[in-house]
Amino acid sequence: MIDLSNAKLLDKKDVLSKFRSLFYHQENELYFDGNSLGKLPLLAKKTIEEAVQKQWGEGLIRSWNQHWLSLPSRISDKYSELLGVETGEIIIGESTSVRLYQVVYALLKEGSFPKHLSTDILNFPTDIYILHGLEKSFTIPPLKIISYKGEVEAEIEILKASIKNNPGIVCLSLVSYKSAYLYPMKQLNRWASKHQSLIVWDLSHAVGAVAVDLKETETIIALGCTYKYMNGGPGAPAFLYINEEWHSKLLNPIQGWFGHQHPFDFSKKYEAANSIKRFASGTPAILSLLGMEAGIDITLEAGIKLLQEKSIQQSEAFINELIQELVPLGFSIESPLDHRKRGSHVTISHPASWQICQGLVAGSDVHPKIIPDFRPPHFIRFGITPLYTRFEEIKRVIEVLKEIVKTKRYLKFPMKKSEVT
Ligand SMILES: Cc1ncc(COP(=O)(O)O)c(C=O)c1O
Repeated sequence: MIDLSNAKLLDKKDVLSKFRSLFYHQENELYFDGNSLGKLPLLAKKTIEEAVQKQWGEGLIRSWNQHWLSLPSRISDKYSELLGVETGEIIIGESTSVRLYQVVYALLKEGSFPKHLSTDILNFPTDIYILHGLEKSFTIPPLKIISYKGEVEAEIEILKASIKNNPGIVCLSLVSYKSAYLYPMKQLNRWASKHQSLIVWDLSHAVGAVAVDLKETETIIALGCTYKYMNGGPGAPAFLYINEEWHSKLLNPIQGWFGHQHPFDFSKKYEAANSIKRFASGTPAILSLLGMEAGIDITLEAGIKLLQEKSIQQSEAFINELIQELVPLGFSIESPLDHRKRGSHVTISHPASWQICQGLVAGSDVHPKIIPDFRPPHFIRFGITPLYTRFEEIKRVIEVLKEIVKTKRYLKFPMKKSEVT
């Protein structure tokens, strides 16, 4: 068990501690939901404020040439560096949901893989909805949703058998949103390739907290959102990676002018750009792009390997405390205990999870507000965000969880759920 002074010592020794000051923090509040919406980088606020005044207010249309046209590629290149791919293999824009639709549609049309879609029960609902929607647009077998014993871990042998028996396009989230289960990416990519299949990886819960090397893992297509560990801001544009060999084969089903080879020729005939830019459709969301750049810059400066190391160290400390202090009080740990199978959030459950969660968020006269999140039916997720989470905060969470349950303070809170949990 780490005591408070020990936790403070670990914070002192933390080589990444200086990055915390680059974010906006509130007094008396411990934020453990960076796996859902990352904190505001102070530079993002300044950049957006200045751009609104100078680039939009004063520069107006001239700002396209001066500042904005080059912006999506500049940010895409930074994501290429983070994910270990060549510049020009990533495009930023749209949401993860839209990117998934575009790319799976393109793969189905292209036809290199059997026209069969599958995913698994651990995947995030939007991915499953998008795949079901695509299933209706093509004459293909129903979407296969692979099930396992529970909703915590994938059973790799079942997953592999399913790919072998139903080859085609498989969509998986590298880190599962409920339990943080982390898939063996390279092993699965190789298996898929051996069985006429391709895995489209959703990295939303991994990017910025888990070191992902898309080349080393032999990944062909990956996408994900940038508003979690990447601190890009609410609704920040998603990234899409397509291995260069596939650029000329895949066509964007939403062939808008920004995906044209020469958008400003205003030609009547669509001619897809001969690069990943063909996956652009309409005008990029400039303010959102400006807001997301500080996040990727900070992550690159901190270094993803160190971030992952700290995430593991903090998650292990948290889990050890949970086992000793909270499991005896009726909590269960829902995330894998082996760090090689876990992303950067730790999920717990309790019969009164929702009320406990509200108790944490409300704080008390003697305790700070603690912000995790809740996912049905009874999961409380704590995002370990190595850019700004402190060991001291982890220790405080344990104390408050103990207090809420021992004193039954949670009984003051309603059992009825609010809309955003
Ligand atoms: C795995 C995963 N995919 C997709 C999304 C959301 O996608 P979008 O950016 O389209 O809202 C989330 C959001 O939490 C997610 O966890």
